[in-house]
Amino acid sequence: MTTNAKLLSDYRSPDFTIRSVELTVELDPTDTRITSVMKVQRLNQAAQALVLDGEALRLEHVDIDGVVVADDEYSVDDVSLTLPLDQSEAMITIVTRINPTENTSLEGLYMSDGAFCTQCEAEGFRKITFYLDRPDVLATFQTTVIGDETKYPYLLSNGNEVSRSKDGQKLSVTWQDPHPKPCYLFALVAGDFDVLDDSFTTMSGREVALRLFVDKGNLNRADYAMASLKHSMKWDEDVYGLEYDLDIYMIVAVDFFNMGAMENKGLNVFNSKYVLANVETATDHDFNGIEAVIGHEYFHNWTGNRVTCRDWFQLSLKEGLTVFRDQSFSQDMTQSSVNRIDDVAIMRSHQFAEDSGPMAHPIRPKSVVEMNNFYTVTVYNKGAEVIRMMHTLLGKEGFRKGMDLYFARHDGKAVTCDDFVEAMEDANSFDLGRFRQWYEQAGTPTVTATGEYDAANRSYRLELAQSVPPTADEESKQHTHIPLRIGLYGANGEVIDLNTEAPLTDGNVYSLVEPTAELIFTDVDAAPTPALLLDFSAPVKLEFDYSDTQLLTLFKSCDDGFTRWDAGQQLLTRYVFSAMKNSAVLLPADVLQGFVSVANDSAIDAALKSKLLSMPAVSGLVNQMKDVNIHSLLDALDVVRKQLAESLFESVQQLFNSSAQPNFELTSKAMGLRMLKSVALDWIANHSPSIAESLVTTEFENANNMTDTLAALKVANTNSLHCRSELMTSFFNKWKDDGLVMDKWLALQGGWDNDACQTNLAEVEATDVFTLHNPNRARSLISGFSNMNYRRFHAKDGSGYQWLADKIIALNAINPQIAARLVNPLTHWKKFNTDQGELMKQSLTSIWTIDALSKDLKEVIGKSLNG
Ligand code: TRP
Ligand code: ZN
Repeated sequence: MTTNAKLLSDYRSPDFTIRSVELTVELDPTDTRITSVMKVQRLNQAAQALVLDGEALRLEHVDIDGVVVADDEYSVDDVSLTLPLDQSEAMITIVTRINPTENTSLEGLYMSDGAFCTQCEAEGFRKITFYLDRPDVLATFQTTVIGDETKYPYLLSNGNEVSRSKDGQKLSVTWQDPHPKPCYLFALVAGDFDVLDDSFTTMSGREVALRLFVDKGNLNRADYAMASLKHSMKWDEDVYGLEYDLDIYMIVAVDFFNMGAMENKGLNVFNSKYVLANVETATDHDFNGIEAVIGHEYFHNWTGNRVTCRDWFQLSLKEGLTVFRDQSFSQDMTQSSVNRIDDVAIMRSHQFAEDSGPMAHPIRPKSVVEMNNFYTVTVYNKGAEVIRMMHTLLGKEGFRKGMDLYFARHDGKAVTCDDFVEAMEDANSFDLGRFRQWYEQAGTPTVTATGEYDAANRSYRLELAQSVPPTADEESKQHTHIPLRIGLYGANGEVIDLNTEAPLTDGNVYSLVEPTAELIFTDVDAAPTPALLLDFSAPVKLEFDYSDTQLLTLFKSCDDGFTRWDAGQQLLTRYVFSAMKNSAVLLPADVLQGFVSVANDSAIDAALKSKLLSMPAVSGLVNQMKDVNIHSLLDALDVVRKQLAESLFESVQQLFNSSAQPNFELTSKAMGLRMLKSVALDWIANHSPSIAESLVTTEFENANNMTDTLAALKVANTNSLHCRSELMTSFFNKWKDDGLVMDKWLALQGGWDNDACQTNLAEVEATDVFTLHNPNRARSLISGFSNMNYRRFHAKDGSGYQWLADKIIALNAINPQIAARLVNPLTHWKKFNTDQGELMKQSLTSIWTIDALSKDLKEVIGKSLNG
């Protein structure tokens, strides 16, 4: 256990709070001056001193109620300022200076391509001024921004603009945010932008100004984000009755940003990746990402901002809930089962890995060293699954009642995950006692099921058992409350009506609340095929000993898209694992035929079909294994893929042709066809590289949109077609001045599985487009390599591991938050067999032993090496 960890169990309410704050920010790229006037109020009579958080600040002045505090009366260290204070209320003025240009961590106030920009979540406000930097201190903010108008014509902060004045070139703009908020929601942006203006009329008839700020010259890439914003505002009114609460909503797109986007009150700051898009530069995947992230940040206005977190251990209160909301929004926008499949794929490939790895933590962590390390797929995505389970258990109306009560009780407050669960319970008189375990413990539960058909009694008996494996953070585990959405199917996939004494709620959901259970279904004519996790009703691993025939039944005709996909994945996984033991293994004819029949089934919509015809992801397979011999796994995948490619060859050629579209459209139907076309092209290339050469080149040359262009390039890259090098160069020459497009090129370069990989990486790093200072560029190449290029990352000589380690060492000094994220693949060394694992550990150790290792990296590497 790391020594300087903060514990949830140590939470204490604050001794003082801040009711209001007036900030004056005099901007200068290297010497910005911040004056903060705070109205401080005592909450704890026994408190002697006010301890404010602050890091990397130059303190210029402090006074209390106008009386200067001399420098021998206060104390400052690396992380705080301590002031003696005995009043019950005081006005405290603090002046500090900071250097935004030097700030490469992109946390606090920093420069992004000549513009000033802030990122305060989680604990970045303390890099701007001394403050009570914790989410349970809520103040009203008034912010005056002063800067050179010729360079920074737009001076923005939260809330409504209340005044502006000019003094020569100095422009001064004052903003007022009437909603009390924690300082992590503070934002300030100053720069020169192009602006897309629009408006939205809320359900009560108020007009809200919508302003989208983008870098000059990018207005032709802003429309989709604006449309997505309006869809989000409407959706939250329609589904939750939630209306926007200020007169203006601003979004600024910046190129230098650590994460996706930030929900600052009334002034969202976005990674430009999640704003800028048009058909020429962005793929369908990018458009979907924009809709999801715009929605996500907008939905935070109620779930995060109006009701916020008491402390950072409660992060999933806002993030799990808001991810659930953005997933529901995306699903409603596209009306496709494929969204759910993608959400599940993230759980299985990334979250299950985290839950069984060195950083395993509950969705509400108990112990944190660096909060930035806990913006995880567990807190976000497993957190969303936990909310979704409540939705499944309570039904749509019940869940809405719970949300209404949650807002009625907690609007304007900083609360805990328990408060949320309690609102759901109370609004529905539903016992979620056992369910609370989901917040308490890490680890992916396993549900083991067996089924037995009794022909004489025409009944089917299901036996269920649940267990949670020990995880890195905690040995012993409790059983939990697992909603299983159950279906029984006949031999042709027909739905069998469920007759049972067992309590099933709406949609055939069974609550597994005990360690074991038995369910008996009557009036069943023949041995059925059960599906126990329809729509992935719980984030668990389900173990049921299906026959190939049963899986084929589900794969070919189940009425639930997720279950179909899952059945196909299970079938292929089964033969991949056999091929690891015996590379001469042959897929049975009925399995191959099953895939062919799905490929030829015109009743299946294109998007779903593209998923049904995809190979299992390596990461998901690794999560089902121990002592992974990665090279033998990759070989086995190739064996299975080859056989399937041969069987599918005719069908996928037809699909490739039939999915072509004369005109470009940005509808989900058109997107599905493009996806299917690219999957088909990949299968073609796998079976016949020579036929693929010309198809890929033609596709690349004739494409009228980035989705098709990139699909062709990807197929050339994954299959190392001869045309690869020429196409990559042509793409580079066309787009080298466009960072966001070059991210796609960088990711492909990182992912290139070739003997020349290391030389190629060095060449790419030397180009002007690559820089470790821009998180998008760094992530694209580094993660493209270490998360996608399994053969080269796991090179037997350890060169791949050390390449990553060297990047991490460089990033440690520039941007610790990004370094700690990108090091992740190395931290899972225990998953792999000793040959590879030891090499991974060596490279990890080479990072561990450098001077000035950030606390971000110390926490994640320390847990991996010493845990
Ligand atoms: N609250 C943000 C979101 O989920 C996450 C975020 C954005 C963030 N930037 C960050 C978290 C920087 C930590 C550090 O939308
Ligand atoms: Zn969020």
